[in-house]
Formats: sequence, structure tokens, C-alpha cells
Amino acid sequence: MEDKIAIPQNGNQFDISALNLYYGNFHALKQIDMKIEKNKITALIGPSGCGKSTFLKTLNRMNDLVENVRIEGTIRMDGRDIYRDMDSIELRHRVGMVFQQPNPFPKSVYDNVAYGPRIHGIRRKHQLDEIVERSLRQAAIWDELKDRLHKSAMGLSGGQQQRLCIARTLAVEPDIILMDEPTSALDPISTSKIEDLALELKKNYTIIIVTHNMQQAVRVSDDTAFFLLGEVVEKGNTEKLFSLPSDSRTEDYITGRFG
Ligand SMILES: Nc1ncnc2c1ncn2[C@@H]1O[C@H](COP(=O)(O)OP(=O)(O)OP(=O)(O)O)[C@@H](O)[C@H]1O
Ligand SMILES: [Mg+2]
Repeated sequence: MEDKIAIPQNGNQFDISALNLYYGNFHALKQIDMKIEKNKITALIGPSGCGKSTFLKTLNRMNDLVENVRIEGTIRMDGRDIYRDMDSIELRHRVGMVFQQPNPFPKSVYDNVAYGPRIHGIRRKHQLDEIVERSLRQAAIWDELKDRLHKSAMGLSGGQQQRLCIARTLAVEPDIILMDEPTSALDPISTSKIEDLALELKKNYTIIIVTHNMQQAVRVSDDTAFFLLGEVVEKGNTEKLFSLPSDSRTEDYITGRFG
């Protein structure tokens, strides 16, 4: 595998239209239309239970695994309908995900990062060595871990585990990285490392990040979408949304009047 080359890209990574999602009778996502641009960071904000994680998981079809879920509408990725024109294995190869709680496998650092590439059939040691080093460097954790590659990942700090999980995601060279509150379990220093990392990664990746931290949304994102009760109230340029929201509900939320 070669390093990804930074080709300036424009246009929409995702084009979502008339998206509705039901958990049984519960209408969790309501008529969502949204475009998500390539090589940008899009933040999803909104009170607990408003559908941010649900929305994120429609983008890699993780909700398919939930019983009694019904999804209507279309989501196109680079023009292809991800529910009709693509199988979920290809989709999940291209769309990586990082969760709120760091979730390394109970294996060595090396085996965590090599896991995905091995599944994709890469066996040669020198090739895996290269991927592991490249991914750990991209995740800004190579220097900290290069002397403990064969030690268990469970012995790392939370912040190191989260960067390891990002490295594990990068190892299979996705195009898009979904992050669901990736720093909420971390201290301020680890948080700032992950934020710097996200800013660095957007040269090559499209990133969508759920956060409860308004300052974080302002620091890292280009665009922000405000969710409320399953609807997208407003989406647009982050600076604009935080300085001059067009909907009074957005204003109430970002100024801390509710949520
Ligand atoms: N598997 C499920 N089955 C039934 N209802 C669900 C399921 N997952 C989520 N929900 C419901 O859908 C709504 C949206 O949940 P979701 O997890 O997307 O919210 P969220 O915005 O990510 O909240 P938080 O900020 O607390 O993480 C909530 O009312 C939740 O209870
Ligand atoms: Mg959530």
C-alpha cells in the first residue's frame, strides 16, 4: 500500500436526501437533507438523544445491525447510493469509525493496527510493518509507541488508546472518518492532540465529528449541523452558525439556554 497522496478534492462526499429512520415506531431521524463536503470537518451538535449517533451510523450502515430499524431516503457517497449500489463491506472499508470509548482489541499495539490490513489479505511482514508505522505516524503516536509495539494495547492511557484506534482506522485507508464524541473520555491534553490530529487528517480525509463541546466544534470544524429531536434545524459554516445562527433554537442551544 502506498501513502495516500494529497489530491485537492472538491464537491460533496455525501449527499443525503429525505432521510428518515425509525426504531420500531419511534421516528428518530426526520426528513434530513444534507450535503457533506469532501476534505472538510463537519461537526454534529445537539442535545442528548436528538439523533446525532443515529445519523452518523446511517453513513456506514451500522444501524443495519439493529433490529426493527427502518430507513427511508437516499444517501449517496461520491454519487453512489450506499444502501442500493454498494455492499456494506466495501462501504465500511471506505468509511472508518472512532467511538466515544477507546476500544482497542486485547492484543498488541502492532496487531491492533495490522488487524484490518490482515483481514484484507495483506500477509507480508515488511508490508505490514510499513502500514503499522505509517498509520501510527499519521495518528501522531509513533514516537510514543515505537518501542512498545509488541506490548498489549490495554496498558496504554485512554488518550493513547484513542489515537491507537484512529491509527487502526487509518490502516485500511478509508476516505471518510466518523468520530462519535472521540474526546469525551479524555483529559484536555489528549483532547487537544486528537483535535490537532483531526485538523491534520482533513487534508486527506473527510471527517464527521459528533461533539457536545461547543468550543471543540468551533476549534476544529468547517461546517456544523445542529440536530434537535431528530431534525436538522440548521447546517452551515461553523463561524456563521455560532456567530449569527439563522434559527432561534440554534441560538438557544449554543448560548446554553437549553440542552
Ligand atoms: N437501538 C435503538 N433502539 C431504539 N431506540 C434507539 C436506539 N438507538 C437510539 N435510540 C433512540 O433514538 C434517539 C436518538 O439516539 P442517538 O443515540 O442517536 O442520540 P444522540 O444524539 O447520539 O445522543 P447522545 O448525545 O446522548 O449520544 C434516542 O431517543 C434514543 O433513545
Ligand atoms: Mg450519541
